[in-house]
Formats: sequence, structure tokens, C-alpha cells
Amino acid sequence: MALEFRPIRQEELKRFAEVNLTAFGEALDSWHLDWFEGHFEGSSTIAAFEDGVMVGSSMVLPVTVAVPGGTIPAAGVTAIGVLPTHRRRGILRRMMEELMREPHQDGLPLAVLWASEGGIYSRFGFGPAARSLKIELEHPKAALRPMPRRGRVRLVSPQEAAELFPAVHTRLLGRRPAMVARGAVAWRYALSAEDPHIPREEAHLFLAVHEGGAGVDGYLVYRIRGDWSPRGPESTLVISEMVAEDPAVTAELWRYCTEVDLVRRIEASGRGCRPVDDPIWWLLADPQAMVATLTTTLWARVLDVPKFLEGRHYQHDGSIIIDLEDGAAGHGGVFRLEVSGGLARCTAASGPGDISLGWSELGSVSLGLRCVSHLLAAGRVRVTSAEVARRADAILSWEPAPWCFEDI
Ligand SMILES: CC(C)(COP(=O)(O)OP(=O)(O)OC[C@H]1O[C@@H](n2cnc3c(N)ncnc32)[C@H](O)[C@@H]1OP(=O)(O)O)[C@@H](O)C(=O)NCCC(=O)NCCS
Repeated sequence: MALEFRPIRQEELKRFAEVNLTAFGEALDSWHLDWFEGHFEGSSTIAAFEDGVMVGSSMVLPVTVAVPGGTIPAAGVTAIGVLPTHRRRGILRRMMEELMREPHQDGLPLAVLWASEGGIYSRFGFGPAARSLKIELEHPKAALRPMPRRGRVRLVSPQEAAELFPAVHTRLLGRRPAMVARGAVAWRYALSAEDPHIPREEAHLFLAVHEGGAGVDGYLVYRIRGDWSPRGPESTLVISEMVAEDPAVTAELWRYCTEVDLVRRIEASGRGCRPVDDPIWWLLADPQAMVATLTTTLWARVLDVPKFLEGRHYQHDGSIIIDLEDGAAGHGGVFRLEVSGGLARCTAASGPGDISLGWSELGSVSLGLRCVSHLLAAGRVRVTSAEVARRADAILSWEPAPWCFEDI
């Protein structure tokens, strides 16, 4: 049976969406179809066909991703799926090879994705590059320590949210590596209560802003999972998104959540997952009221090593020779990275590197996650001395830590 791999035509988009949703065990509905129609223009696709019938889907969206010190254009890999009848025959591998060719040719320095399963993408040169915390908080009313009130929280309509939220999001984008910029379509979906993944009974989104001295400086999206027991209310407040540049504003948004009546539990999950440096633990009178689960969010793959390393910024000056190993994901090379005043020059070098690593590990350090020493402990990088690992961590890591809540 003959396999063919090629971009789809507009009239094949519905089948493409259907193949993708079938791969995920979901039905095609108008919400998903709208998503594909809204994102088709400007995207590139590769579909797999067996004897002319589509059996696999893959897509790259042009995205803007925050890197340490700024933002860059990147390839957002999405809509990856192979029909259950056609798995483990190398279809994903072929689609990835075809899909990655174009962004590379277009000079994009980085590709990013969210993985359904963590075992899939390392072989294609992607490394887990950002993580966040799913937080569960019990008895929130009793939970926060006394703290001074700074501004006020105000509920807003969907129209007001659409006007006020983007500026807050954009300000944070400039400071927090791994965030992904939102265009109009992404905002429409972020503020839509019709997401079929949200249970119908909790599909109302409550929208709020925090206003400080200089105006709106934070926003919150949440839902209420209502429940009653013979003892009274047992509802859960589910944070769908909490965004603020200033941790003190984040603290106020947490305070608001803990003061909502009839709520016995707060959950920050999905897009509401919090950055690893969220202040909540320090705000709690009883820090054991909170349970947090570390989750992987954005995976990154460097496509053009010098361009990427010169495109991001650094908080520590220094130099290091990186030996990027050849692997299934591509040919490597030896690169000298010299950082001065927070900016880097990256040039081809010869001879042994101070540090040797693979494409996936390069992806993991790319957005500033402090992990070289951990990768060393896990036997995933090699260094010429312990000092090199400390130096590499100092040069490559970034504060605040990468955080991504945009499920591309
Ligand atoms: C994940 C998926 C796209 C893989 O497609 P596929 O055509 O079966 O993959 P391939 O046959 O090309 O596999 C390529 C390699 O990945 C491995 N692999 C594939 N799926 C994997 C998984 N879920 N976990 C771990 N490894 C996986 C294969 O074993 C193979 O390994 P190899 O390099 O040692 O040969 C397919 O199983 C699928 O559609 N799953 C459900 C939807 C989904 O999760 N999509 C991904 C969204 S991010």
C-alpha cells in the first residue's frame, strides 16, 4: 500500500481535522472545526495518505515565543495525529521530517510544541523546556496570612476582558521565557466558555481584573465546579488563567480566589497551572494546605544553533564551548558561545567542547531552565569539570524561570 506525504488543500481541511480528532479519540464538532479553519491560513501542513486516503495529520503554526530577554518567531508544531489503524509504521517520523524542513529553510531558529505523551519527541530533538505547577488548595478561607491590600479586583464582561487582558498578557510576554504570544483567534478561544473539554455544568467563565495605581495590572479567568453536601457548600474554584507581571498582584488575585464564598477547594489546572515561582506557598498560613504537581508544558527544539543562541539574552557573562552531538535529530557541531553584556556571539569552533550534549538537552536549556547540573546528574550531558556545569548553568539559565500556559 502506497504512502504519500504532502501539504493539504483547503478543501481537505475538514478531513484533516477529523483524522486528528480521531487520533485523539474525540469527535469532530464545530468548535474544533472552527479552530482548524481559524488557524489554517499562514500554517503549513503535512498529511499522510494511504492509497489516497488521509491517515495522518501534522501542522506548523507561525508563533511568537518569549525567550530570555525578548521574543522570537518560531514554528509551533501542532495537530499531530495518526489513525489508530496506522500506528507504529513510521508515519509520524516521516511527517516530522517533512514538517521541520520548511521552518528550517525559512530561517526560524526554534520549534516548540506541547506533547500529549512525554516519550514521543526527544527523538526528534525536542527537550522539555518549561514546567508549571498544578495546584490544589484545601480550606482556602483559612489559608492566607494577613497581608496589606494593594489594589482592587473587579469582575468584567467578556467584551471588557477582550479589551483589557491582552495588554497584561503582552507585558508579561516580554519578561517570562516560554510564553507564547496570542493573536485574535487564540484570544477568542482562551475566553470561550464553549470548550468541549470543559464539563457543561462548569462552562461559565468568570473574568476579573486587578487594578493598581497605574490601572489594570493583572487578570483572572475562573470557573466554579459547584457541589453541595449535607454539611453545606463543597464547590471548587478552578483557575483557568491567572496572569500578572508583579508577584504582589498575583498575591492579590490569589486572595480574591480564597475569598469567594461557597468554595471549599481551589484548583489551578490546565491553562491555570502556575509558574514554579508562584508566591502562593509563601502566602499560606499553613503551607501544607497546598499540594502541587509538577507538570511539563512547552517542549523546544533548536533549529538554527548560532541564530538561536545569539537571538536570546543572558544574565551572566562568560564563555563556553558546546559540543552538540550528531543524532537522529540532525548533525551537530562545536560552537563557542561568548556572552558579554548579556548578548552572545556564537561561532563555529573546533576541538573538544567544555560540555557535550544532544539536541533534546539543548532544547531543554534553550529557554533558560536551570538544568545543566541536573542533566549531568542524570548522565545526559558530559562536562570536562564540575566547574563547567556550574558555569553552563550560570550562563544559560534565566530568572524568572520559563513558564508556558498556551496549549498550541
Ligand atoms: C503519537 C503518534 C502520532 C505516533 O504516530 P506513529 O505513526 O505511530 O509514530 P511512528 O511509527 O512514526 O513512531 C516513531 C517513533 O516514535 C515512537 N513512538 C510513537 N508513539 C509513541 C508514544 N506514544 N510514546 C513513546 N514512543 C512513541 C515509536 O516507537 C518510534 O520509535 P523509534 O524511533 O524507536 O522507531 C500516534 O500514536 C497518535 O496519533 N497518538 C494519539 C494522538 C497523539 O498523542 N498525538 C501527539 C500529539 S502531541
